[in-house]
Amino acid sequence: MTELLPGAITTAYAGGQLLLTAGSGVGILTFNNPDKLNAISVEIAEGLADALTALRDDPAVRVVILTGAGDRAFISGGDISQFDKTRPNAEVAARSAERFRQRQGLLANFPKPTISAIRGYCLGGGLGTALNTDIRIAAHGSTFGIPAARLGIAYGFDGLSKLVSLVGPSRARLVLYTGIRFSAEEALQFGLIDRLVAPDALWSTTLQIARQISENAPLAIAAAKITIREILRDHDKRDLQAIKEIGTQCMDSEDFREGRRAFMEKRTPKFTGR
Ligand code: COA
Repeated sequence: MTELLPGAITTAYAGGQLLLTAGSGVGILTFNNPDKLNAISVEIAEGLADALTALRDDPAVRVVILTGAGDRAFISGGDISQFDKTRPNAEVAARSAERFRQRQGLLANFPKPTISAIRGYCLGGGLGTALNTDIRIAAHGSTFGIPAARLGIAYGFDGLSKLVSLVGPSRARLVLYTGIRFSAEEALQFGLIDRLVAPDALWSTTLQIARQISENAPLAIAAAKITIREILRDHDKRDLQAIKEIGTQCMDSEDFREGRRAFMEKRTPKFTGR
C-alpha cells in the first residue's frame, strides 16, 4: 500500500493480519489474511479496534479506506474455524456478538469518512463491515452475500439495520432467507454499493474519491456525516443539538472564511479543519 501513498508508513496489527498504512491525509486498513480469504478472527477484530482508534486520533488522517489483501476477497466473513470457541452456545455467542458489535461500533461511529474498496468475496461479517463504512466501491467480479441461514446464525439489530436501510426490507429478506451469493452488478442495482469499476481501476477510483474528501473542509464533511447519521435514527432518538453544534462550528470556522476567499480569488482552498 505504501506505493499508493508516497511517504506513507505501515504499522502491523494482529500479528500482521491487519495493516495500517497512513500518508497524504489517507489511512488504509488492509485485512491481510489472504489464505483464509481475509476472514475476521478474534485477533483481527481486536486489531481493528486498536487501528481504528489510532486513525481516529491521528489529526493528519482525514479519510480511511478498508480493503482486503490479494485479489480473491475483501473479507469472507467471521472466521468460521473459531466459531466452536466463540459461539459454542447462546450465552457465549451473545457475549462474543456484543464484543463484535462494540468493535464494529467504532467503525460505524467513526468520526471521519470511511470507504470500502471491495474486490472478490464480501460475505457475512465482511459485508457487515463494508456496510459500517460510509461509501462502498467495488470491482466487477466481486461477490456479495450473507450466508447466515446456511450457518445457523442470527444477525442482530445493528447487523441488519444498515442492510435494510440501503436495500429495503424485501431485498434484505431475499438475501437473508436464501443466503444466495450475488454479483457486484446486482449489488449496485440493490443500492448496496455506490460505484462499480473495472478491477484495475479500483484503486485509482478509490484514491481519487479519498483525495477529493481529504482536500475538502473537514468540518463541513463532519457536519454531513453527523446529519446523515441522525436522519437515519428514529425521530425520537435524533440528536438535533449535535447537528446545530457542528453547523455553528462550520459557520464560525477559518475554513469557511478560507472557502469563500479562495472562491473569490479563483484559487484552490487550503483547509485546516479549524
Ligand atoms: N472463515 C474461516 N476460513 C475461511 C473462511 C471463513 N469465513 N472463508 C474461507 N476460509 C478459508 C477456507 O477454509 C480455506 O482454507 P483452507 O485452504 O485451509 O482449506 C481458504 O479460506 C480458501 O477458501 P476455499 O473455501 O477453499 O475457497 P473457495 O474458492 O472454494 O470458496 C468461499 C470461497 C468464500 C465461497 C468459501 O470459502 C466460503 O463459503 N467461505 C465461508 C463464507 C461464509 O460463510 N462467511 C460468513 C461467515 S459469518
